[in-house]
Amino acid sequence: MGERDRAERDWASLGFRYQPTPWRFQAVWRDGAWSPGGLTAEPTITLEEGATALHYGQQCFEGLKAFAGPDGAVRLFRPDRNAARMAASARRILLPEVPEALFLRAVTACVDANREHVPPHGSGAALYVRPLLLGTGDNLGLRPAPTALFRVFCSPVGPYFKAGLAPIRLWVTARDRAAPNGTGAFKVGGNYAGGLLASREAKDLGWDEALYLDPREHRFLDEAGSANVFGVLPPARPGGPERLVTPSSPTILPSVTMDSVLTLAREDLGLEVERRPVPLTEVGDMLELGCTGTAAVITPVAEVGHAGGAFRLPRAPGPVALALHGRLTALQRGEAPDPRGWTVRV
Ligand code: PLP
Ligand code: COI
Repeated sequence: MGERDRAERDWASLGFRYQPTPWRFQAVWRDGAWSPGGLTAEPTITLEEGATALHYGQQCFEGLKAFAGPDGAVRLFRPDRNAARMAASARRILLPEVPEALFLRAVTACVDANREHVPPHGSGAALYVRPLLLGTGDNLGLRPAPTALFRVFCSPVGPYFKAGLAPIRLWVTARDRAAPNGTGAFKVGGNYAGGLLASREAKDLGWDEALYLDPREHRFLDEAGSANVFGVLPPARPGGPERLVTPSSPTILPSVTMDSVLTLAREDLGLEVERRPVPLTEVGDMLELGCTGTAAVITPVAEVGHAGGAFRLPRAPGPVALALHGRLTALQRGEAPDPRGWTVRV
């Protein structure tokens, strides 16, 4: 893409849709070792028809973003966390771990090769990076794959939900995304296949996305279909700070963005932070509710509907969501100092 095409591209209107970029990275695991891997222009993958990724869902993936800064540099946000989470997912489903060094080299090489497709600073868009680990090889019975394929591709993306900080409405689904001792805390494709219907049903009922409760008791908040959730509660004592609360649950994905949001809320905004089971009924006490994740960034929630009625949040977007969004995106985009070393220059 030339400078002229880049200047004319309508980056600000991008949604969260796949837009191919010229290069992807691929490495192969065979006989107990990873190939060095390298870039390829070929956008399709050829797999054995018996590949376990296709039959038994033996696959996992990641999602992270690269941002163009005001200084022209491109930065990844906490890619080491995605490397660690992909390794944890791989261990859970008996795929070979992608070593952190290979993961970071692949992600960096892919972003670097597709640099012209990183949306410009100020556009509000970002380059989404999707690492993918597949069980491959000839197989029929239920057993781990004899070989594996690691791939990383990129796509420029805009907002996942609505543009800007427009609030969304969540529907509490009666379905479960994950079983109590299942794979909910890992980023495996099967969790998402099972969630498609809940999201479709929420949308058919006029809501934006499904909100899951804990699968054991159906009493506590778990997470949304593609993001963690947090609430803002009034101060615990008069004159104290407001409290940011997020579910602790063995069945939700440990979000890199949520981890960052908790740190920013505590250290930069001076909020009290609580990570504990959060009963659905407590939404009635909340001042704000928000979704957070790589794709969702910070998305305020205006209303939570459930079989017995609905909770309306008094502030959507509220000052906490606005402040967190401002801090987080300024860091990610290289507009603010990064004292914690969260961003990695490509
Ligand atoms: N929860 C689910 C189910 C997700 O798919 C995602 C997205 O990756 C998240 C939470 C947010 O995680 P992260 O902030 O690491 O992107
Ligand atoms: C992400 O936020 O990176 C995700 O993977 C969510 C995905 C379902 C789009």
